Amino acid sequence: MRTLIILVFLAGVFHTKFQVLAVRAKLYQTPNNVTYFINQDYTYTWFEALIECSSRNMSLLTLEEDVELLDIYQIAIKNNFAKKPPHLWTGGVGSNRKFIWFSTGTPVATRTWGIGNPDNSGNVENCVQIFENTNKLNDIKCFEKMGFVCEKKPGNDEEKPLADFGKFGDWCLILIKENNE
Ligand SMILES: *[C@@H]1O[C@H](CO)[C@@H](O)[C@H](O)[C@H]1NC(C)=O
Ligand SMILES: *[C@@H]1O[C@H](CO)[C@@H](O)[C@H](O)[C@H]1NC(C)=O
Repeated sequence: MRTLIILVFLAGVFHTKFQVLAVRAKLYQTPNNVTYFINQDYTYTWFEALIECSSRNMSLLTLEEDVELLDIYQIAIKNNFAKKPPHLWTGGVGSNRKFIWFSTGTPVATRTWGIGNPDNSGNVENCVQIFENTNKLNDIKCFEKMGFVCEKKPGNDEEKPLADFGKFGDWCLILIKENNE
């Protein structure tokens, strides 16, 4: 009987834990009708984040306007996030301090970087994250593990983010090199 009680108790603990985990990744909508999907678990490489977004018919975060970074920060502040915001992958990629948004090819705006970044530290930082507890960007190794932000903007129903891979042959080679170091 005591074993049974302990088992029921443990089942309850796991059930609660599972429910907490289940709400760690969620959809959020801004007044501008941009939909974000934010997963705060530190378990995704940049590539895994890209695939997570594509499989939802969404793109990894592409900052076209400054207000978007602020919107994400507000979402993180107001909701049940462990870090506000956590380390999150964006759709920014590049090398040698030249960074673009993967889905559009437009440059990452200088004013959105954290102080001293992008620094391409160790010459191996090719992907762009929102840095934990800030609304600033940082370049970091693509194989680090963190959460991510997907987005869907109004009118982007036909978006096919993975089709863009062909445009970035050189960049893919840089990343293969990074992974083998
Ligand atoms: C957002 O979507 C709603 C419902 O489709 C619409 O009424 C509203 O005008 C949209 N807001 C903006 C800022 O486009
Ligand atoms: C994504 O879009 C494709 C083609 O429009 C559709 O077949 C698929 O069901 C969509 N997937 C999701 C998760 O919405």
